[in-house]
Amino acid sequence: MADKSTIVVASNNPGKLKEFALLLPNFKIISQSSLNITPEEELGETFFENSLQKARVANNVSGMISLGDDSGLIVPALNNLPGLRSARYAHENATDEENRQHLRKELEALDLNQTKAYFVCVLVLVQVSADPFPLISTGLLEGSVKTTMQGTNGFGYDPMFYPKDSNLSLGEMNADDKALLSHRGKAIQVLKRKIEGFVSE
Ligand code: IMP
Repeated sequence: MADKSTIVVASNNPGKLKEFALLLPNFKIISQSSLNITPEEELGETFFENSLQKARVANNVSGMISLGDDSGLIVPALNNLPGLRSARYAHENATDEENRQHLRKELEALDLNQTKAYFVCVLVLVQVSADPFPLISTGLLEGSVKTTMQGTNGFGYDPMFYPKDSNLSLGEMNADDKALLSHRGKAIQVLKRKIEGFVSE
């Protein structure tokens, strides 16, 4: 049987991994790269499909409980982009900085300094690859994106994203404050309750 105190996070994104370690302190969080698991191309048409695929690939190789996270930034004024393409918005191997600059240019092309946006996170946890009962949870964070960048904390689009009713960007918040309100923080809180039931069985 799989070691239930360890969760393989099916991501190589150091920003995400730090957030999982912070938010799931009762589990040993290990990255798929530490097990030499290579992510497959994301071919799904939804965050859910990609998240499930990531978790399955990690579980196939590791045989351990695996957690997929597919998340992204939705900007309605940009036809919901970057969306599923958030990690590779500027180009296939883009850095976070290149993606932020690309988003800034796309907004400026529409004469927008600021517009509504939201982050989504879909988590899928599997115990076996063809798990008939994957644990699924989602989280949403509403706010706006601005072309001015503030702060250097977090990762991805954090310096451009201002949660609703906040004067601070996510890039200006510390990890604990971001975790309290973020899409990933909310999805993890829901998942945690489901995992507790599942692990104690
Ligand atoms: P994924 O690895 O395909 O799920 O890509 C997620 C991408 O969405 C990241 O590379 C970031 O660009 C963006 N993203 C997701 N969550 C966050 C967040 O919490 N802050 C900032 N950017 C995020």
